[in-house]
Amino acid sequence: MTILNRATSRLKKRTNNLHTNSSSNTSSQENKIKQILESIDGNRQEKMHNVPMEDGKLICILTESIKAKNVVEIGTSNGYSGLWFCLALRNTGGRLITYESNQQKIALARENFKEAGVDNMVTIVEGDAHKKTANIKDAIDVLFIDADKEGYINYFNKLSPLVRPGGLILAHNMDMRQRVQNYIEAVTNDPALETTFQGQNQGLGITLKKRMNKQT
Ligand SMILES: C[S@@+](CC[C@H](N)C(=O)[O-])C[C@H]1O[C@@H](n2cnc3c(N)ncnc32)[C@H](O)[C@@H]1O
Repeated sequence: MTILNRATSRLKKRTNNLHTNSSSNTSSQENKIKQILESIDGNRQEKMHNVPMEDGKLICILTESIKAKNVVEIGTSNGYSGLWFCLALRNTGGRLITYESNQQKIALARENFKEAGVDNMVTIVEGDAHKKTANIKDAIDVLFIDADKEGYINYFNKLSPLVRPGGLILAHNMDMRQRVQNYIEAVTNDPALETTFQGQNQGLGITLKKRMNKQT
């Protein structure tokens, strides 16, 4: 066997190992979702306006922590933040309903959800979320607002009554203070809510809808 043949044979063995490892990894749903998240992360596109990875992790942890079953997201884009929700929802047995008006982004999100193997736990509602969300009747565990900034207050006014006590209202781009000022005032002035700003540039608003204390 020549030196070149030996090197080729070693390389083949190594490549086979890699394939074995990756196929055993990708058999789990968690790794499938993470692979798609990594591929979106590795090729971030400005126009998708995806949340930063750290904020994605945060929404995932919060969703799993409160055992959320019903998550409503306003602003799907290509499905990046939706995939972070799915990472949690696969453990809680929950579902994501997500709203998007841009057809190109809807197509990308469908592709990403399918490739991640989570299309069965996600419903994408197409069209203007201001109109389409009027059909929501069920209690919401987590509401995530990440679409037209001037519309945040409208989404909040319409949908926060549906958020269950102990549920969360998350909102992105809180660092764009002027555009979301009325939203910030609404979630910080209401004594029935507890709000903190976390994540990159404190851009993720996390609002807890407090449980009513029976003694007060
Ligand atoms: C910041 S991006 C969402 C990013 C996504 N949450 C993520 O992190 O992957 C905002 C999205 O909201 C969509 N959008 C804006 N106004 C909307 C409306 N009225 N109804 C539905 N979608 C809207 C935009 O097309 C855009 O894709």
